[in-house]
Amino acid sequence: MLTSADNDLITRVGPETPMRALLSRYWFPVLKSEELEAGGKPCRVRLFGENYAAFRAHDGRVGLLDEGCPHRRASLLLARNENCALTCLFHGWKIDVEGTVLDAPSEGAARERFATKVKARHFTTREAGGLIWAFVGDGEPTQFPEFEFLSLPPSHVTILKIPVDCNWVQGVEGLIDSSHVGHLHGSTLDTVYLRNDGGAALTKKLFMADLAPQYEVQRTEYGLQAAAIRRVGEEQRFVRVSEFAMPSWTFIPQPEDEDCLMMGQVPVDDTHTVQWYIMYNFEHPIDKTGVGHGFQSMLDYDGETFHRNASPENLWTQDRQRMAEGHLTGFRNILYEDIAIIESMGPIADRTREYLGSADAAITRFRRILIESARALANGKTPSGLDRVLPYERIRARQAVYPQTQDWREAIAAAPVG
Ligand code: FES
Ligand SMILES: [Fe+2]
Repeated sequence: MLTSADNDLITRVGPETPMRALLSRYWFPVLKSEELEAGGKPCRVRLFGENYAAFRAHDGRVGLLDEGCPHRRASLLLARNENCALTCLFHGWKIDVEGTVLDAPSEGAARERFATKVKARHFTTREAGGLIWAFVGDGEPTQFPEFEFLSLPPSHVTILKIPVDCNWVQGVEGLIDSSHVGHLHGSTLDTVYLRNDGGAALTKKLFMADLAPQYEVQRTEYGLQAAAIRRVGEEQRFVRVSEFAMPSWTFIPQPEDEDCLMMGQVPVDDTHTVQWYIMYNFEHPIDKTGVGHGFQSMLDYDGETFHRNASPENLWTQDRQRMAEGHLTGFRNILYEDIAIIESMGPIADRTREYLGSADAAITRFRRILIESARALANGKTPSGLDRVLPYERIRARQAVYPQTQDWREAIAAAPVG
């Protein structure tokens, strides 16, 4: 449970909020690279309740500007993309990828001198891993998160972009919560993995063998590790260690012969979020024909289907007939299950009216990190994690079966990665 003030503190991301101040110290992916065509139409990026226009100049460079033209705020989404600059339709001001105003033809003879006095707000971008990343904070950009998947060839990475109609914190909390897996996904676990044998079959069996895992959560320099420990008979334990990296990255342990899985939440505004599901494989290209179908079948999930089909009014397409036949949720697939649940909490979950238990340890800790970090920044201090260089490229979620006499930390140190 949180106080109303703390719930506001962690969820509100609009201009002038402490959480926006904190989040904007980090890089976020805002578009797929393929969404911007050289010389093509600008795309809207919405982040922390503000709108930006992204465009790719003819020479391939990416610009990210305020959506409103610096002259009188006409939308630059409408602008012509020509000669490596956007030309505003209203009075023809021309702005390049650096935010330099090259021309203000409505000023007549003095147009060029006038233009040199104006600068459009532009933001730093970077392309990596098939994504366009943006840093919209003040001052010098902070450390770029060099996640491991960024070093892989495109064939070894698949990315889903999923807009959801709820606050970003609900998205993170849904993904660092391991205890829901055996309950919410009890009927869809069979479709989670690419394969239904080997490590995947064993993992599913171990999930279902203990529906009340014990949690141990520990702080790391980049966020936290949430170990969910399940009993395997008297002698053994099964540990899954999800990783959380500030401000909104989660890494889910996978069986060793499966693709790795990480997710990021991008706060669009207080009540909308873009979720990025990133699957990657170190050994081979992503297999889109696996027998299990799960996340692989969702490779076709365009992120729009859900909102075309599912809404609070139709209870996110829940099918009671399917439930009568034994399906635990009546939802189409595992993504529907996760998204319906987080949206069902409302646009911003009321955390003054919840009742947390021991299975929510990771969530409690995550909130504390957010609150402490936002308060530190508001008090002029550098929050933990932003005060050092972080090993983003080494963050890996792991799982292991081990003798109950061993420490789970030792067990996962020796465990292979999905
Ligand atoms: S509003 Fe863009 S040129 Fe006038
Ligand atoms: Fe889930």
